[in-house]
Amino acid sequence: MFRVVVLISGTGSNLRALLQACTAAEYPAEIVAVGADRDASGLAHAAEFGVPTFTVNYRDHASREEWGAALSEQLRAYAPDLIVLSGLMRLLPAAVVDEWSPRIINTHPAYLPEFPGAHGVRDALAAGVTQTGATVIVVDSGIDSGPILAQERIAVAADDTEQTLHERIKPVERRLLIDVVQRIAAGEALV
Ligand code: GAR
Repeated sequence: MFRVVVLISGTGSNLRALLQACTAAEYPAEIVAVGADRDASGLAHAAEFGVPTFTVNYRDHASREEWGAALSEQLRAYAPDLIVLSGLMRLLPAAVVDEWSPRIINTHPAYLPEFPGAHGVRDALAAGVTQTGATVIVVDSGIDSGPILAQERIAVAADDTEQTLHERIKPVERRLLIDVVQRIAAGEALV
């Protein structure tokens, strides 16, 4: 079976959707572990689905590079075919990207290359655009600058707040992510 490790920082609602998708017999991937860079509440989803978890706390390390080395060591232990960043709110050091790219993908709550970075939803609202989107990319050495695997437009409503807009974006992200992982596992992308 195609082995996926998911990395999160937060509530992990997109992770949960992927965990659920993986329970279908015909889905060609399995999540073998979920990791976090902090005490993320989303790790509870993994536990509920019987998936092992690990935490490599950023604050326990002297530098981004040391944290990255510890993270890669954990990742190696699970021998992933693919790593999914699903709300990991931390830039990976170059050594980690070099080791795993292109077998490392990221979901982003905007229509890249529009609004990269940690505040994709907030930045789209601040810019006053009428549509934003959701994107799944390959992680490269830049900030949300890797090759685009899937993306979709989402309209911004006049009365949207960061929260209401993000809650409308996330279901689209989930659908795109589940589809991209399926395609990669089936050898239809990233080969
Ligand atoms: C998702 O919208 C994801 O795209 C975003 O964090 C959210 C995580 O939600 N990631 C980024 O903004 C990365 N720059 P979740 O914890 O509920 O799945």
